[in-house]
Amino acid sequence: MPRPIQARIHTDAMRHNLQCIKTRAPDSRVWAVVKANAYGHGLDAAFEGFRAADGFACLNLEEAQTLRGLGWRGPVLLLEGSFDPRDLEVCSRLGLWHVVHHDAQIDALSAHKTQVPHHVFLKMNSGMNRLGFAPERFRAAWSRLNALPQVDEITLMSHFSDADGPRGIVHQVETFARHSADLPGERSLCNSAGVLRHASAAGVCADWVRPGIALYGSSPDHPEHGSKDWDLQATMSLVSELIAVQQLQAGDTVGYGSSFTASENLWIGIAAGGYADGLMRSGSNQAPVLVCGVRCQLVGRVSMDMCAVDLRPLIHASITPRAGLPVTFWGQGDDGVMLPIDEVAQACGTIAYELMCGVTARVPKIIFSCADQSTSPTPPR
Ligand SMILES: Cc1ncc(COP(=O)(O)O)c(C=O)c1O
Repeated sequence: MPRPIQARIHTDAMRHNLQCIKTRAPDSRVWAVVKANAYGHGLDAAFEGFRAADGFACLNLEEAQTLRGLGWRGPVLLLEGSFDPRDLEVCSRLGLWHVVHHDAQIDALSAHKTQVPHHVFLKMNSGMNRLGFAPERFRAAWSRLNALPQVDEITLMSHFSDADGPRGIVHQVETFARHSADLPGERSLCNSAGVLRHASAAGVCADWVRPGIALYGSSPDHPEHGSKDWDLQATMSLVSELIAVQQLQAGDTVGYGSSFTASENLWIGIAAGGYADGLMRSGSNQAPVLVCGVRCQLVGRVSMDMCAVDLRPLIHASITPRAGLPVTFWGQGDDGVMLPIDEVAQACGTIAYELMCGVTARVPKIIFSCADQSTSPTPPR
């Protein structure tokens, strides 16, 4: 028998979330951002869930190659562009679009021998101060690219640092507009928070939007809004089972470092799931967890393969503690009860992105579609 932990990937929820984005940005085309192995969900599942996207935006050539291998003939965008001049050969061969954010990438393009002119996304650093040309240098970069026979289309892009928070996007939108207003070409600005929070601002959604986290059912501005507020559905459920139970006496401690001491006699459950599966150690004594759909809490330190759960709420629900009871670390269990990943992330002092991306390779990913949820999961691919 395999360990009971598995990550269930809900492709119907992916379809639903994509539709939500399309409804909010009806005049824009949508890149489904699938970098980091589709935020930990697996590219094959994401491809199935986001087939109705206008393109897939990813990080590296391996991801792009996988998408082509899955049969995607539409646009694929490399969000950080080429890392090495040789990458451009693969871009030509696979018809990949790529971001250009610094001079060396233009140098490489100018030396690249290709029959197929490239579609590039020229990135402005409008305030994030991560990647992109400084606003004052943007026009010169555009002119250089525009003069190259290797380039046939230039889309203008930038990325928001604060679309999810109080600072907002206005300062960046203004900078971007000031330094690009008279340049031709399509535009792309918005991530998930940009679309969900700022779609009504004129021109912000532009020609292409680039949502990631919202497509995976997490609210980009939690706790101000939860996924329900944005009508997003969870795309990943990390589920497992109790593999043991222990009856503690008052004063007994739990786990390494004895960081939890029972204040009364109580039951704990030991769940198959630890930091080597992707649980956060910072969730020790903090994170919520469902057992049989009843909300409980982790007690003691999360260890490599296991964690302990305070089962007092189970007793209150008149459920007898025993090995084999279903556990939901986040998402939805067989019982249909939901534990939003955003709440778990908050309890761990992190964000849902990190939890999703952190599920490790030893956890089997099971692609679930609606029809499967009342029956058994489809076999892992
Ligand atoms: C350039 C770019 N666009 C879009 C996204 C998607 O962002 P989010 O997942 O917040 O929607 C990312 C993710 O970091 C990104 O780097």
